[in-house]
Amino acid sequence: MKELSLHILDIVQNSIKAEATLIEIIIIEDLKKDLLTIEITDNGKGMNKDLLKKATDPFVTTRVTRRVGLGLSLLKATAQQCEGNMLVESEEGMGTKIHTTFQHSHIDRAPLGSMVDTLITLLIESEEESGEVKNERTVDYIYKHQVNDQSFIFDTREVKKILEGTPINDLAVLEWIKDYLKENLERLVKS
Ligand SMILES: Nc1ncnc2c1ncn2[C@@H]1O[C@H](COP(=O)(O)OP(=O)(O)O)[C@@H](O)[C@H]1O
Ligand SMILES: [Mg+2]
Repeated sequence: MKELSLHILDIVQNSIKAEATLIEIIIIEDLKKDLLTIEITDNGKGMNKDLLKKATDPFVTTRVTRRVGLGLSLLKATAQQCEGNMLVESEEGMGTKIHTTFQHSHIDRAPLGSMVDTLITLLIESEEESGEVKNERTVDYIYKHQVNDQSFIFDTREVKKILEGTPINDLAVLEWIKDYLKENLERLVKS
């Protein structure tokens, strides 16, 4: 059983490949409704109607190397096994939204896993330096995690303001962010 945080990492990689500069990850755990919702929205290049229709087909990929696409179709199958579903909205040149639901208590629902690890992995990649020059494109993330009526929001644009130019993937910064996320997400899940 694959942890959902790994699916999220995989789906966000699509957004990065689509040249998104802002990626929003929203997780809502509504225990009263017994519903887990995961929504990933990006401002990347989007998909045309034809690709959008085919995007959740396991044999569709615009990749030219490696395996066939599995990311979206696998997540869709995973959601459908848990009385949920996955919807993809996308507009060329505007961006993409992947909306996924699961019955929270479903016996086959994979655990969420470590969102701290997923976020740290994404942050490490978010500002890659190639030699002397820093990539022009950096990716920002908004992470919102809600459990019933408690929520936690992490916005890298806010963090970068405090950092005053120190890269967000500086090792000491990452250590600090990791502790900060861990503390807040543990508190949220306990609430
Ligand atoms: N966020 C996105 N923005 C633009 N295109 C996307 C996005 N997510 C998926 N796609 C398109 O859908 C295809 C299938 O995605 P996926 O199932 O993850 O397989 P893969 O990434 O291995 O190709 C991708 O190759 C890409 O063309
Ligand atoms: Mg993919």
